[in-house]
Amino acid sequence: MDKKIAIFGFAGSLRKASYNKALLRAAVELVPKEAELEAFDLEGIPAFNQDLENNPPEKVKEFKKKIKAADAILMATPEANYTIPGVLKNAIDWASRPYGDSAFDGKPVAVMSASIGMLGGARAQYHLRQCFVWLNMYPINAPEVMVPFARDKVDANGRLTDQKTREKIKELLESLVAWARRFKS
Ligand SMILES: Cc1cc2nc3c(=O)[nH]c(=O)nc-3n(C[C@H](O)[C@H](O)[C@H](O)COP(=O)(O)O)c2cc1C
Repeated sequence: MDKKIAIFGFAGSLRKASYNKALLRAAVELVPKEAELEAFDLEGIPAFNQDLENNPPEKVKEFKKKIKAADAILMATPEANYTIPGVLKNAIDWASRPYGDSAFDGKPVAVMSASIGMLGGARAQYHLRQCFVWLNMYPINAPEVMVPFARDKVDANGRLTDQKTREKIKELLESLVAWARRFKS
């Protein structure tokens, strides 16, 4: 049997009750058998400082190492003021530096987003996809997992309960695994 596809995922929110973290937890439950998914918490990654990019803080070193070791990346993004939140962009900036040592280079990637609004973070997703151009990442185009009115889809324990959304996440992960396999052959 082929080696499992290693997916590394993170959500662009530090909030304990984050809906995007709930999507990521659901993804851990729904990951196909032929893959494994590690969810990483961005808590503790400081504001980017280019003076430190050659010897970044430990948490950033760990983040970069895990991205480099992964076959594929999964990002769950909130939408903040019609774009991706600073927490996510900050983490991406660290891992993309120094120039010539980006952890993201050539990686397949899938995106999910959850918002309390009616567009489910669509605008943030398209901005995030723009970052993938310079990062030289290869995003999955379909399915698009955008979760509107997230408040109604996550229970008090932080579990994603909406069945349709869970199915979409499963579909996204299957798509990501198939996509990542093509990069390994
Ligand atoms: C600073 C800020 C800006 C926001 N801007 C948007 C926005 O542009 N679009 C949107 O749908 N929701 C927006 N929201 C609401 C978020 O959808 C909501 O806070 C959501 O719970 C954030 O994701 P999380 O639960 O993963 O932390 C904003 C929230 C904050 C705190």
